[in-house]
Amino acid sequence: MSAAPRLRDVAPADLDALAALRRRAVIAVEAPYTADELAAWADVDLGGLRTAVATGSGAVAIAEVDGAPQGFAWVEAGTRPHLRSLYVDPRASRRGVGTLLLRRSEQWVRTQGGRWLFVAASLNAVGFYAACGYASDQPFAVRLDGPSGPLQLAMRKMVRRLD
Ligand SMILES: CC(C)(COP(=O)(O)OP(=O)(O)OC[C@H]1O[C@@H](n2cnc3c(N)ncnc32)[C@H](O)[C@@H]1OP(=O)(O)O)[C@@H](O)C(=O)NCCC(=O)NCCS
Repeated sequence: MSAAPRLRDVAPADLDALAALRRRAVIAVEAPYTADELAAWADVDLGGLRTAVATGSGAVAIAEVDGAPQGFAWVEAGTRPHLRSLYVDPRASRRGVGTLLLRRSEQWVRTQGGRWLFVAASLNAVGFYAACGYASDQPFAVRLDGPSGPLQLAMRKMVRRLD
């Protein structure tokens, strides 16, 4: 049995490893997305994440076991606190890493005075967020550039009140 993950803030030196982890996590997603949709999702530009880490805007946390990254989360505060990223290495899935990172993100939003956390949930992750207390709002789609041209990645807006 592996040790419990430790959480810490992400540093710029972590970003390449997290980009690789993110790609592994996306490629491992199965239903309901097509291979083109997953390729487009995997190729999304990470400039916003890099800027957040460089400037300290929002909170970006990493979960590690023995120094090896297991997952990361990026959350932004403001009038509509928003979870921007949550990815767990597929080799570490269903061990509570995603829940740990989500709860830390929620706690950070509370410290900023936020009382709700909004999530743009990929359809594969709706069950995860529902298990973590998030209510499903309306469907929407994100326009991405896929290998065969523009496509629409179907998602759901979800939200949880942070009591
Ligand atoms: C979604 C994701 C973050 C979940 O992380 P995780 O560490 O595997 O999740 P946890 O172990 O904390 O799961 C907690 C509970 O959520 C639910 N859950 C997790 N994954 C689920 C799935 N694929 N389907 C249905 N329920 C799920 C279960 O109730 C689970 O408890 P259990 O394992 O005791 O049954 C991870 O699978 C991932 O990174 N997926 C690819 C990227 C992604 O979709 N990110 C979200 C973008 S919005």
